[in-house]
Amino acid sequence: MNITVIGSGYVGLVSGTCFAEMGNRVTCVDIDPVKIEKLNQGIIPIFEPGLEPMVLKNVKNKNLFFTTVLQEALKNSEIAFIAVGTPMGEDGSADLKYVLEVAKSIGQCMQKRLIVVDKSTVPIGTADKVKATIQKELDERNSDLEFDVVSNPEFLKEGAAIADFMKPDRVVIGTDSDYALEKMQQLYNPFCMTNNRFINMDIRSAEMTKYAANAMLATKISFMNEIANICEKVGADANQVRIGIGSDQRIGYSFIYPGAGYGGSCFPKDVKALTKIADDNGYTAKLITAVEEVNDAQKLVIAQKIITRFGEDLTGFTFGVWGLAFKPGTDDMREAPAIYVIKELVSRGANIKAYDPKAINEAKEHYLKGVQNINYVSSKYDVLKDSDALVLLTEWKEFRSPNFEEIKIQLKTPVIFDGRNQYNTFRLQEKGFEYNQIGKK
Ligand SMILES: NC(=O)c1ccc[n+]([C@@H]2O[C@H](COP(=O)([O-])OP(=O)(O)OC[C@H]3O[C@@H](n4cnc5c(N)ncnc54)[C@H](O)[C@@H]3O)[C@@H](O)[C@H]2O)c1
Repeated sequence: MNITVIGSGYVGLVSGTCFAEMGNRVTCVDIDPVKIEKLNQGIIPIFEPGLEPMVLKNVKNKNLFFTTVLQEALKNSEIAFIAVGTPMGEDGSADLKYVLEVAKSIGQCMQKRLIVVDKSTVPIGTADKVKATIQKELDERNSDLEFDVVSNPEFLKEGAAIADFMKPDRVVIGTDSDYALEKMQQLYNPFCMTNNRFINMDIRSAEMTKYAANAMLATKISFMNEIANICEKVGADANQVRIGIGSDQRIGYSFIYPGAGYGGSCFPKDVKALTKIADDNGYTAKLITAVEEVNDAQKLVIAQKIITRFGEDLTGFTFGVWGLAFKPGTDDMREAPAIYVIKELVSRGANIKAYDPKAINEAKEHYLKGVQNINYVSSKYDVLKDSDALVLLTEWKEFRSPNFEEIKIQLKTPVIFDGRNQYNTFRLQEKGFEYNQIGKK
């Protein structure tokens, strides 16, 4: 099939590349000329395991193209995916500016029947807005071209995006058109060979499914963090409690690790957007509001432990930080707990030495840009010298079995604050460390 993917970020680039991998002819479009220039030179602008070789292979095989010119991409396409960002607006709602700009451009330049697919995470009712926007442009052109608007929310996880896309748990398709449904099934069949993972539903339910899924996962995280905070008060160990409750199949082990709260490009904005959607429709989403409040507070729990240990005024103290990305396997720092912890420490006069295997550039150029007193280093052991404590904030594999002797020798005092999701906690008290973790006194 001939496909256009509009927006070449995490979702657009991964989706487009995976469609190309299955033999489709895919053109990825982006308004950012630098990004497209880089992609055309074989430089992948994001880090995602397995993405680079797959992009390069499909470009070489002439299955994958990159352009800034939508009209050129749409010329032969049967399906156009909208995969642009839907950032949080000032009032907490998803900002549809980019989605509707794309819809407008599609209406202005489509030349043949087209299936337009909302892959971005969008509020319920957005497909109707996209449809109306395209139709308005077609009417202005006096065009009677046919088109369908389909909702196909994306469930990939950064850090495992290729694997998730190639072997999805489910492919949700919201449509009221038999023609569009058949085409979408044809496109996704190669991804669902072993069993039927195709779930067809009405458009609004598909749009809601994405928000409900993210809100459920965020709820599990905030629930466990709340339990961890109570564990600290009563002298229980949240990690042992996790193992105890996870063994119940109705609860399960996933997403119940106590930690420094969820970040990333999706959960924070989608949880907020769902609260706003409910509000706008006359319903107060109490549980989902609380999920967000618990998470906001959780991001600062590690900073609070450091303040309790070293004092309100941190002038003269240096903290070595391992991990900046919001989770391992990605360079994405959107809403990462590290941003909040580091800013809090720096605002109290502390110096920071920071290391992350992939996210240092993101920190320097965007998320911690302009924050004083941060020294970025290129190896995890380089953060230790002259640091008063080590602070772990992302559960990268390379932090799982470090050389504790080296850490002890280099740190000024053998103090560790561990804010990672704790599936693999260290046993450090007996090695002579003062070990502070979430969910255990
Ligand atoms: N990142 C994830 O893990 C993930 C997972 C599932 C769903 N989503 C959803 O997918 C959507 C995209 O997220 P992302 O993380 O890929 O965003 P992103 O910010 O990485 O990428 C968006 C891209 O769209 C481009 N763009 C903006 N306006 C454009 C236009 N008019 N024409 C062409 N390109 C344009 C931007 O330049 C950017 O490259 C969001 O709605 C997000 O909530 C993201």
